Amino acid sequence: MGLFDRKKSCKAGQVDMSRLPRHIAIIMDGNGRWAKKRGLPRTAGHKVGAEVFRKIATYCKNLGVEYLTVYAFSTENWKRPAEEVDTLMALFKNYMLEAIDTMERDHIRLQFFGDMSAVSPELQALVERTNEMSRHIEGFQANICLNYGGRDEILHAARECTAAGEELTEENFAKHLYSAGVPDPELIIRPSGEIRLSNFLLWQCAYSELYFCDTLWPDFDERTLDAAIIDYQKRDRRFGGVK
Ligand code: IPE
Ligand code: IPE
Ligand code: MG
Repeated sequence: MGLFDRKKSCKAGQVDMSRLPRHIAIIMDGNGRWAKKRGLPRTAGHKVGAEVFRKIATYCKNLGVEYLTVYAFSTENWKRPAEEVDTLMALFKNYMLEAIDTMERDHIRLQFFGDMSAVSPELQALVERTNEMSRHIEGFQANICLNYGGRDEILHAARECTAAGEELTEENFAKHLYSAGVPDPELIIRPSGEIRLSNFLLWQCAYSELYFCDTLWPDFDERTLDAAIIDYQKRDRRFGGVK
């Protein structure tokens, strides 16, 4: 084996498999800039980005991560040109059709987080179907945030909690979040060089470790994820206490 190969396997070997985060969340950002750099329409970046999601979800599952949550479309992304929004919705539809055929076989649960009332009835029906199928599957869970906003999620949960006449405690409140039943992410990754959360998981991120890198989402690969996990594993998580 050449020196290059040994170096590569050594780097991958640095992920401590006994201390993996149970839940990783990713803001899949940078598709438009990736396309622009190549003289392509922004939609070309979204198509490659969708493939990268498949690759990274498979890698997380194989590593032994239990939950992967990705930000696919925010409550603010409706501001974009209609053609771009339509392409994104078509990609979501294709992905869901594919998932319905394969999720049982591959032991993948799929959940959609967000306000589905604003997406087309066709997509709503597919979301219902994948969410329902997932209830009967055990294994790795991928959560796709679609028409998702952290503020919207918090308001939605507060309204439901109040309407149910429940006492407003953290525990009761969390049961009404889109993410009910899913542990908070230990690690949130934002590629593309932007250092902000853009309305992602505002309740759940309270003690998440944040990792930012310059890679654009279509260039993100297994090694980029390894680097984020390795960095996470060096952090001293204190949760307000002392050690
Ligand atoms: C992320 O990539 C995908 C969505 C927000 C839907 P962008 O489309 O935001 O890409 P940039 O940030 O413009 O490069
Ligand atoms: C966040 O990215 C939303 C998604 C990745 C789906 P944006 O590209 O919409 O965020 P801003 O506009 O840079 O804050
Ligand atoms: Mg962006």
